[in-house]
Amino acid sequence: CRIVVLLSGNGSNLQAIINHFQESTSVTIAAVLSNRADAQGLNRARAAGIPTRVVAKADHVTREDFDTALATEIEHFQPDFIALAGFMRILTPAFVDRYEGRLLNIHPSLLPRYRGLDTHQRALDAGDPEHGATVHFVTAELDGGPSILQARVPIEPGDSPEALAARVLEREHQIYPMAIQWLCEGRLRWRDHMAWLDGE
Ligand code: GRF
Repeated sequence: CRIVVLLSGNGSNLQAIINHFQESTSVTIAAVLSNRADAQGLNRARAAGIPTRVVAKADHVTREDFDTALATEIEHFQPDFIALAGFMRILTPAFVDRYEGRLLNIHPSLLPRYRGLDTHQRALDAGDPEHGATVHFVTAELDGGPSILQARVPIEPGDSPEALAARVLEREHQIYPMAIQWLCEGRLRWRDHMAWLDGE
């Protein structure tokens, strides 16, 4: 099973995926693509010997042009699945449709709560007792695709958004590799616009 990871920043989720599949003979991280040349995640990929590519916004006038260039790079690596891991761009419906059922994202909230940005602050402001992260299939609706796996963490009294983010991130690093493994093993499938676990 081949996966391509798309990111824009630090890449701690990429690192967790690299570590998880280090010994695996069945899952290969075929490439890491970024829209930012200075993304720390690219260094993590290089250190692991994974090919990297940058598709820069400045080189593409429209969103459609950008996504076409991105898809061209992706196709070069022939992935089974594409994992967004802190990729900070909204993808066009054409791109999302092209990869239907093969495109995953991790979002730092218990979706459907808190789509979009500032999820940790919003969970604190709402006085929620718990928070978490969700791995989901990507559809044209922002952070709205079918959920695959969620991790919950408690919100502690006096939590800052940073402390809460760190607690959530630790769990992200567990559930994202797990979801990818299930997909690669065929235990989890995309069917009828939903995520199905084996036996359902
Ligand atoms: C994570 O919080 C993830 O849920 C969100 O972007 C962040 C990426 O962090 N989509 P990192 O670059 O993997 O460290």
